[in-house]
Amino acid sequence: MQKIRAAITGIHCWVPDFVLTNEELEKIVDTNDEWIMTRTGIKERRIMREPGKGTSDIGAPAVTGLLEKTGTKPEEVELLICATVTPDYAFPATANVISDKCGLKNAWSFDINAACSGFVFALETGRKFIESGQYKKVIIVGAEKMSMMVDYTDRATCVLFGDAAGAIMLEPTTEEVGVMDSILKTDGSGRQYLQQKGGGAVKPASQETIDFREHYIYQEGQAVFKFAVVGMADVSVEIMKRNNLTADDIAYLVPHQANLRIIDATAKRMGLQKEKVMINIERYGNTTSATIPLCIWEWEKQLKKGDNLILSAFGGGFTWGAIWVKWAYDPK
Ligand code: UT7
Repeated sequence: MQKIRAAITGIHCWVPDFVLTNEELEKIVDTNDEWIMTRTGIKERRIMREPGKGTSDIGAPAVTGLLEKTGTKPEEVELLICATVTPDYAFPATANVISDKCGLKNAWSFDINAACSGFVFALETGRKFIESGQYKKVIIVGAEKMSMMVDYTDRATCVLFGDAAGAIMLEPTTEEVGVMDSILKTDGSGRQYLQQKGGGAVKPASQETIDFREHYIYQEGQAVFKFAVVGMADVSVEIMKRNNLTADDIAYLVPHQANLRIIDATAKRMGLQKEKVMINIERYGNTTSATIPLCIWEWEKQLKKGDNLILSAFGGGFTWGAIWVKWAYDPK
């Protein structure tokens, strides 16, 4: 029997219109464009400002656009997986809300919380449903309204994050394209360095959690940086080695966009020139589970069938991983 692989057959993204620049942030906290650019590579980020709008309002237009682009009727979709760390509600899942807003009447859906590795974790999950032979159309959407948990009085974190969503369609193929291999890792002992302290079961919302600003992102930047630099590069090099891929074989590294210095270090360990690295952190900042689809979407027209992509991420948890994808279609 021929092996069924999960091919990415379409991609679409959506970002809010409002652009928050470094110059604007200079007016809010004690920071400057030079510091932000040298330490992170970020110039601006998109923010969802409309009151009452949530992550599903960012994810839904990405999914609707994907359906239109791939000529898919909403009722054809069987499963939607949403990677998010900023769900609309503690429950129900944001995936359910997106499915409802997009008219996916025949799909079941659920969320995955793997922070900045959310997209690669969700892609690996969706891949398995397709490879089982039982599913023909699976949507993976990474959607984040990071601005809802950014403390705009904390200069160490408020400059980093932005809002965005990116959705892909996964379909079966028997050709030698699609998701080829993956290495995914978790180390829960890293939770102390990057988390939202309040609002969960350990510290339910209270006057105290509000007073101590514990509903916002807490990050020990330097500690996370050290783990991220090693973790992201290690899995990216490992996936190359075990599949006998050289730098020449790789069309693009698609790295999570948390910090330009982490991306550069990963590319260097892989032996890749800058032209082979997708980077758009300057315009969107860290959009958590949306960074990787946002890159692929912007590079889509340059991708050819058979191109080898290494998707690589590191995030809160800690979570990290790399996925080798053979691109499944030529520019349309
Ligand atoms: O995506 C999920 C995983 N997350 C990551 O991968 C993030 C990993 N960490 C990082 O990317 C970096 O650690 C940051 C970009 C978050 C911070 O860069 P850093 O080079 O590690 O800076 P730092 O935290 O060590 O701070 C250096 C200095 C400090 O001042 P002192 O103590 O040396 O006087 C900070 O107070 O920079 C100061 N600082 C700022 N200055 C101007 C921190 N934030 C700012 C700011 N503007 N926005």
